[in-house]
Amino acid sequence: MANDQEKEAAARASLRFVKDGQIVGLGTGSTAAYFIQLLGEAVKNGLRVRGIPTSVRSREQAASLGIPLTTLDECQEIDVTVDGADEVDPQLRLIKGGGGALLREKIIASATRQLVIVADASKRVPVLGKFPLPVEVVKFAQALLIKKIEGLGAKVSLRRAADGKPYLTDENNHILDCRFEQIPDAEGLACQLSDMPGVVEHGLFIGMANIVLLAKGSEIVELRKEAIRRGR
Ligand code: 5RP
Repeated sequence: MANDQEKEAAARASLRFVKDGQIVGLGTGSTAAYFIQLLGEAVKNGLRVRGIPTSVRSREQAASLGIPLTTLDECQEIDVTVDGADEVDPQLRLIKGGGGALLREKIIASATRQLVIVADASKRVPVLGKFPLPVEVVKFAQALLIKKIEGLGAKVSLRRAADGKPYLTDENNHILDCRFEQIPDAEGLACQLSDMPGVVEHGLFIGMANIVLLAKGSEIVELRKEAIRRGR
């Protein structure tokens, strides 16, 4: 089955975690876009929810589909968020930010009771790090941060938009893509990056995902945080 069909299948499987009356975080990326599309259809069929988007892109898509929207200013408790990921490890640690929205995604995830990750099975890895870790930085500090992160063993590149100019996030920052190949101590690296002045946020999402839905062919593999705690 083609990758896009798997993304759609994972997104469809997440719909059952969304209940009438809930506040729903709307992720960013191609898989999350399928979810927003399907949520729009459910809203047309009578589901009452209010969405909080994690990016300008997702806000525009949701608005075009008639999904009622709210903001963190109005509402600080989110029932469920459905978002994609670039990598998922066996402990449900994630790399996110391939689509450039990691800062708002992490803020929304931090306010969410149930974070549901949707992806095709290619995102499942034994150890994080093959996918270059996105790190959002303030422009003023970027040269210094490139040097510091290279000192941790990564190959670092400044993300660029299609026109060759540095990619700008929704918060007007830059992104460094940091290729580590393997991140054996994700918690340790997360602390090191967070401690660097000028780092706004990094794409390691640790202890945040409650459920991961991975589509492989027509099968959906469901991974749960509770199962990990029980050592299964
Ligand atoms: C955006 C993200 C995306 O969720 C992640 O990049 C996965 O994207 P896709 O579903 O297109 O593979 O973190 O910042």
